[in-house]
Amino acid sequence: MTANGGTRFELEKVVRPNVLNLEPYHSAREKVLEGVLLDANENPYKAEWDGVCLNRYPDPFQRQLRRALADSLGVGMKSIAAGVGSDEVLEWIFKVFCQPGVDSVVTAEPTYGMYQVTAAVFGVDCHFFPLSSSFDFDARGFLSTVPKSAKVLFLCSPNNPTGNLLDREQMRTVCREWPGIVVVDEAYIHFADGGSVLADLPDFPNLVILRTFSKGFGRAAVRLGFAVTSPEIIKLFLKVKTPYNLSALTMHLGCLALADRESREENIRSIRVERERISAELRKLSGVVEVFPSDANFILFRCREASSMVNRLFEKGIVVRDRSSVPGLADCIRVSVGTPAENTLFLEELRKLAGGSRI
Ligand SMILES: Cc1ncc(COP(=O)(O)O)c(C=O)c1O
Repeated sequence: MTANGGTRFELEKVVRPNVLNLEPYHSAREKVLEGVLLDANENPYKAEWDGVCLNRYPDPFQRQLRRALADSLGVGMKSIAAGVGSDEVLEWIFKVFCQPGVDSVVTAEPTYGMYQVTAAVFGVDCHFFPLSSSFDFDARGFLSTVPKSAKVLFLCSPNNPTGNLLDREQMRTVCREWPGIVVVDEAYIHFADGGSVLADLPDFPNLVILRTFSKGFGRAAVRLGFAVTSPEIIKLFLKVKTPYNLSALTMHLGCLALADRESREENIRSIRVERERISAELRKLSGVVEVFPSDANFILFRCREASSMVNRLFEKGIVVRDRSSVPGLADCIRVSVGTPAENTLFLEELRKLAGGSRI
């Protein structure tokens, strides 16, 4: 049966009934942001930081930030809601769609660990669907094995920690043919050459895209992430989020980061150039067995005695991530792309530890 825009998805069937029927809390600043404000028990005496009002509650509907994001992405502002990092947006997904002890979710492994951890926090079962040996997602394989209880599939593209974009056609197939929610986490999309599913949003009412200011925007400390999805799902996210989840400063810093396009693009360009340099240098080392292609701001590579290598780099003050305990990633290390000077230091130390160059 096709029920919604040619897909098998029906929103009312995947939303938890208590959320569907929920009358959300109505906060004082929903409608009125200016005037003689005597309705919210705020302190009337002005406090400001960098022109941002601090004594009043911030806009619960995040209008200025959502408008700026919408303009930059070419979607309507009703398709966007922002959270304290995309980690908060993950929590909304569980609140809206997953009944603890009844519903389950699926992750495509190996991937970012927070999907599984958040599922555990909410008391929701998490199933693991394996990516292929080249870390690709097989939609047909997923569709033939997905448990009936599954409500949400988490895909990460480019994937952490493998670094690759998932195939867009496979993601479109699963959106089209599966009646659950398909989350595509695009935290690292700014470092890839295309590959976003953003243009697929109008086709798929079950697609939820996650983005963050922590990577391409270079604002991890601000804690700002957002969902781009259908206005109907955004309405549900706004229902379950705490009224004033984002501080006025966070939203202000987000708008400033969005406007600072030139330095963002320059940094991303440099990271991409350095990514290729590190990958090429790693491939020359005899102790490095495999360097996986990356569309992100990190590189996954396999080397002999990875854990001991990580420890010895640490002793030299160079911190990389040991991924060798992750199933399928034996002897794998993930290294983030740093500044050119940091990358050179990393390569120099690794060269000493991972043997000479291959001839
Ligand atoms: C795939 C992925 N999504 C999301 C995040 C975190 O995003 P945020 O900082 O917005 O919570 C990370 C952080 O490493 C990540 O790897």
